[in-house]
Amino acid sequence: MSEFNHVSVLKEELTDGIITDKNGIYCDMTLGGAGHSKRLLELTDNALLLGIDRDPVALEVAEARLSCFSGRVKLYHGNFSEIDIAASENGIEAFDGIMADLGVSSPQLDDAKRGFSYMHDAPLDMRMDTTSNFSAYNVVNEYSEAELTRIIGTYGEERWAKRIAEFIVKNRPVKTTLELVEIIKAAVPAGAREKGGHPAKRTFQAIRIEVNGELDAVSEALGKAVSLLKSGGRIGVITFHSLEDRLVKQAFQTMAKGCTCPPSFPVCVCGKKPEIKIITRKPVLPGDKEIIENKRAKSAKLRIAEKL
Ligand SMILES: C[S@@+](CC[C@H](N)C(=O)[O-])C[C@H]1O[C@@H](n2cnc3c(N)ncnc32)[C@H](O)[C@@H]1O
Repeated sequence: MSEFNHVSVLKEELTDGIITDKNGIYCDMTLGGAGHSKRLLELTDNALLLGIDRDPVALEVAEARLSCFSGRVKLYHGNFSEIDIAASENGIEAFDGIMADLGVSSPQLDDAKRGFSYMHDAPLDMRMDTTSNFSAYNVVNEYSEAELTRIIGTYGEERWAKRIAEFIVKNRPVKTTLELVEIIKAAVPAGAREKGGHPAKRTFQAIRIEVNGELDAVSEALGKAVSLLKSGGRIGVITFHSLEDRLVKQAFQTMAKGCTCPPSFPVCVCGKKPEIKIITRKPVLPGDKEIIENKRAKSAKLRIAEKL
């Protein structure tokens, strides 16, 4: 387990941004290697933390890393969209602060055998939750050409999606990551490849998002999380790509908005009241130093909101 190395991004900004009570109750919706949670527990006197992760390996590592805070930490294995269940199972009615650091952790990407990486050969897998029975193998070998085109185009923002999907379908069954890389390279004309970027990067991101239902869970989870915040409690979310950031931004904007009646209505009939106040009008970005030290930080964006 000692090789589970993940450098937390925007660590101070996220934890400082959500601590509202040094004896409060907090939730880390994406516990990972527990970098953010450890700092939160160190900074708070007697605060409790509920840590959620769908990856059993991450939970095991986090449990060991947080063992010195015994009695202050509860763990939940599952999707963060089950935050309400995780809270009630642990007798928690409301949180003082909630944080999420979305996406994959470095160990998930770096552990070749988990099949996330286009740099190492491994069976097609990409499951964050290793107890799930749906993997990249199912997406690549069982989805129709049209479905693959949609996923690679939408989640990977890959302009060669249609051709990549066509080549995948023609070359099935595809069993390993490097077989998939070769198919993608054959589909994307060498002259059209982005400078500096790996030709498989966007397709691998797209398949990973599909396997783990990454975008599906976000809006639902944020709604539930905000409803579980105490008044004055804070939620902070870090994203790593534009699709995720857009979802967080839109979810925050919807919850920060009051009446949604058409402007032509003389009086409000919807009765909708704002639930949150957005603290970060513009997302917080890592500084140059952090990006030099940790290149994963480059695309990170942090948004924070406060429950009214
Ligand atoms: C970027 S890492 C978090 C790293 C952590 N903040 C740290 O400082 O070590 C993201 C973690 O969230 C988990 N994760 C991603 N999506 C999830 C979801 N929908 N439900 C539960 N866990 C999720 C992943 O398994 C991964 O361990």
